[in-house]
Amino acid sequence: MGETHEAAPLRALLLYYSYTGQSRTVLQAAGEVLRDNGFEVQEAAVELTDPRYAKPFARFPMRRVWPDMLSVLPAQVRRADARVAVPDVVREGGFDLVCIGSPTWWSTASLPIRSFLRSTDARKLLARRQFAVFVVCRDSWRGNLAAVRRLAEWQGGRYAGEIHLTYPGDQLRSMLSLTSYLGSGRYRARYAGVRIPVTNVQPEQLDRVRDFAADLAERTRAEVIACRANSM
Ligand SMILES: Cc1cc2nc3c(=O)[nH]c(=O)nc-3n(C[C@H](O)[C@H](O)[C@H](O)COP(=O)(O)O)c2cc1C
Repeated sequence: MGETHEAAPLRALLLYYSYTGQSRTVLQAAGEVLRDNGFEVQEAAVELTDPRYAKPFARFPMRRVWPDMLSVLPAQVRRADARVAVPDVVREGGFDLVCIGSPTWWSTASLPIRSFLRSTDARKLLARRQFAVFVVCRDSWRGNLAAVRRLAEWQGGRYAGEIHLTYPGDQLRSMLSLTSYLGSGRYRARYAGVRIPVTNVQPEQLDRVRDFAADLAERTRAEVIACRANSM
C-alpha cells in the first residue's frame, strides 16, 4: 500500500459541516482508513459565520431547542445561502478525493454545506475531482444526499459514492431522543415520560464507514492511476 508507483501520494480532503460533531466523527473515521491506505489526508470544517443564522449554532447544547432548530427552517425551505468560512487548505486544491459530510437539516443539505457548495471556492476544489458524500441524520437522508450530489456535480465534481447513517426508533421516539440530546447534551433513557432510543452515530456504524472508505480508497487509486496513464 502507499504511493501510486513513483508518483506523488494521493490526497484526500475531509470537508464537513458538523454542529454536534457527528459528521466530523464519521469523516475522521474515513480519514484514518484513507491514511492507512497511503493517502495524505487533510481536514476542513465549514464554519457558519452569517450573523443572520450563526448564533443558535455557536453553542451546544442549544438554549431553546425548537426555536433554535426552527430558526433555519425558512432558509432551508428557500434553499438560501449563508456566509460561511473555510480554512485555506480548501483553496490549495489538488485533491484526488473530496469527502463531503454534513447533517440533514429540514430534509435537505444543511445551510452551511449548501452555501459552501455554491461558492467559487467549491468550483476550484471540485472541478474534475472525485467526491464522496457522507450523510448523517435522524432519518431523512435522501434529500440531503441528492442536494449535495447535485451541487458538487454542478461544480464539476465526479461522484464516487455515498454512505448515510441514520438513528434508531420510530418518528416520535427518534425525534424526542434527538431533541433531548440537542437541548441537554446528554443521553437519557426517557424524555417527557417516554422511553427513547439512542441518538447519534454508533460504533458499529463507524465500522460501515471504515469499509466504505477502504473501498473508496481502492477505487480512487484505480481511477487516478488510469487518468495519469492516459495523460502520459
Ligand atoms: C436545525 C436542524 C434540523 C434538522 N433536521 C433534520 C431533518 O429534517 N431530518 C433528520 O433526519 N434529521 C434532522 N436533524 C438532525 C441532524 O441531522 C442530526 O442531529 C445530526 O446528527 C447532526 O449532525 P452533526 O453533529 O454533524 O451536525 C436536524 C438537526 C438540526 C440541528
